[in-house]
Amino acid sequence: MNQAVLILIKPDGLKKSLTGNILTRLSETKLEIVAAKIARVSQELAQEHYRHLKDKPFFAELTKYLRGELHNRRKVMALVYWGEDAIAKCRHIAGATNPEEADPTSIRGSYGRITTKGVYENVIHVSSNEEEAEREIKLWFHPDEIIVDLYATKETVTEKKKARAWDLKKGAESIK
Ligand code: PPS
Repeated sequence: MNQAVLILIKPDGLKKSLTGNILTRLSETKLEIVAAKIARVSQELAQEHYRHLKDKPFFAELTKYLRGELHNRRKVMALVYWGEDAIAKCRHIAGATNPEEADPTSIRGSYGRITTKGVYENVIHVSSNEEEAEREIKLWFHPDEIIVDLYATKETVTEKKKARAWDLKKGAESIK
C-alpha cells in the first residue's frame, strides 16, 4: 500500500552536516521524495507538531530543540517520502525513538544522543502512523509544495493578501 510520511532532519542533523548521510540512508528505501524544503520553525508550529506531548515534562525543551534553540541553527529540512510501506521503511532506517535503544547502524543509533536534561536529540523525526503522517504533512506543507495529490484539496481565492515576489529589475548586488 502506498503511503506518505513526513521526515524532519532536525537542527542537530543540519549543524553536524549530516544531511547528505541521512538522505543517502533514506534512499535505501527506494521511496520517492515528493516534497522538500528548508524551514524555520515558529513556536506555534513546534507546539502543534508535538501537541500530543504537551503534558510531558520535556515538552518545553523538545520545542526549543526543534526550533534550533539548542544548536543555534534555526532551521530544519522537511521532506515527504511516498511509496509502498513508506512509514515502516523510514522508521526502520531511522531506528528507535530513544537513540540509546536504537540499532547502532540506524540513523538515530549512529548520530543521536540524549541531553543531560533527558531530551532525545535523535536527529530526525519520522511520522508514526498514517493518521499522524497526514496531520503532520498538512501542517508542514501547502498542497502546491507537494508534486503528487496526496489528500483532498479545495479551491480558495485569497484577496488582498500581501505576498513577496522576485524583483526582476534588480540584480545580484541587491543581496550584498
Ligand atoms: S514516536 O516514536 O514518534 O511514536 O514517539 P512519540 O512517543 O509519539 O514521540 C515522542 C517524541 O518526543 C521526543 N522525546 C522524547 N520522548 C520520550 N522521552 C523523552 N525523554 C523524550 N525526549 C524527546 C521523541 O524524540 C519523539 O520525537 P520525534 O521527533 O518523533 O523523534
